[in-house]
Amino acid sequence: MENFEYRNPTKIIFGRQAETKVGEEVAVHAKKILLHFGGGSIKVSGLYDRVVASLKSAGVDWIELGGVKPNPRLSLVHEGIHLCKQHNLGFILAVGGGSVIDSAKAIAMGAVIDHDVWDFYVGKGEPTDALPVATVLTIPAAGSESSTGTVITNEEGWLKRAVNSELIYPRFSILNPELAMTLPAFQVACGAVDISAHLMERYFTNVTNVSFTDRLIEATLKTVIRQAPLILKNPKDYDAWSELMWAGTIAHNNLLNTGRVGDWASHGIEHEISGIYDVAHGAGLAVVFPAWMKHVMHHDLDRFVQWAVRVWNVELDVFNPEAVALEGIARMEAFFQSLGLGTKMKDLGIIDDRIDEMADKCTRGDTNLVGNYVKLDRDAIATILRLAA
Ligand code: NZQ
Ligand code: ZN
Repeated sequence: MENFEYRNPTKIIFGRQAETKVGEEVAVHAKKILLHFGGGSIKVSGLYDRVVASLKSAGVDWIELGGVKPNPRLSLVHEGIHLCKQHNLGFILAVGGGSVIDSAKAIAMGAVIDHDVWDFYVGKGEPTDALPVATVLTIPAAGSESSTGTVITNEEGWLKRAVNSELIYPRFSILNPELAMTLPAFQVACGAVDISAHLMERYFTNVTNVSFTDRLIEATLKTVIRQAPLILKNPKDYDAWSELMWAGTIAHNNLLNTGRVGDWASHGIEHEISGIYDVAHGAGLAVVFPAWMKHVMHHDLDRFVQWAVRVWNVELDVFNPEAVALEGIARMEAFFQSLGLGTKMKDLGIIDDRIDEMADKCTRGDTNLVGNYVKLDRDAIATILRLAA
């Protein structure tokens, strides 16, 4: 295990009707805030009304900015920064999924600087300050409700890039599993795949003697594999939603990568796909992950065998580890498909060939190796994308 320092300051308020506490929780921090949300699901479900009623009763005033799109755009982030500066807002409440939360985090970093917040996303400097952010989560998926990450798409050049900073850990996140019950099946599936991907990015590591976190990751993956199909069968299953929602937060709140180094190449590759084609992040990962695995599995076949046996219940065959690993990958693909997602590029509606362009962007013109488990150059990424095609 490697040395590590770990701290996750996000207060989690979990359970039925938890959103009724949002006003009193916000009031601890601010009396005038930016209320940020997406394309309208929170108005249809009635969540918006409950949130503003809670804010009102706690004496919190707000300016609102809706309209965050999945794969959140830089232009709306700029609007939010302008509103925060114009109205002197000191706090941002994100009500929605990973896209709304990521947009809120970007606004939080941009509201306290004089240059373009996009600079941070392309590696020009690092944030040294940010407004506080909090969330009311409506979809278990990205894990942004308790993560250091924000991922934004710049419409100029369709670049999707991430920033990681402890400054943008949300102050609190409200997790009521009931709020996810209105999700369409496709988004449930995308969320389950994204959570699985966050676990597998961490699982495939070169760090040895990490059996405790191996076991935690395996348990969390098995939870997703068990609960997501139950939710698709019965979207009102509160218990299954509770398990999935909490698993989604734990999968990405940095606990499970303590002492180990995750890979993250599949996320890097997927961000090029969703940056250009605007596909759902989880749907993109269902395509990238199997291809990445087939490309890298010989790097450490034992780790793939362990994963196949422990997570996917493949029978151990010490004389044929490659077959065991391949069976694990096949079962993972079958799981993604059982959720209703495809595992090939054409399933994302992608039929043109911009593979070389994506491989080039991902490696910044072949100047940057991607991933930690296996370091991938432009040619390797193009090979993986061709496997996915
Ligand atoms: O916009 P609304 O109308 O709210 O609709 C959303 C959106 O269309 C809908 N939705 C959300 N909750 C709902 C609901 N519809 C009905 N009922 C509900 N309860 O679902 C759609 C997808 O929402 P989105 O926020 O995009 O989903 P998700 O949470 O999967 O977030 C995806 C984004 O997060 C980024 C991804 O790249 C992507 O841009 N990620 C962020 C990470 C982070 N900050 O740590 C890590 C992840 O790896 C990921 O990259
Ligand atoms: Zn993800």
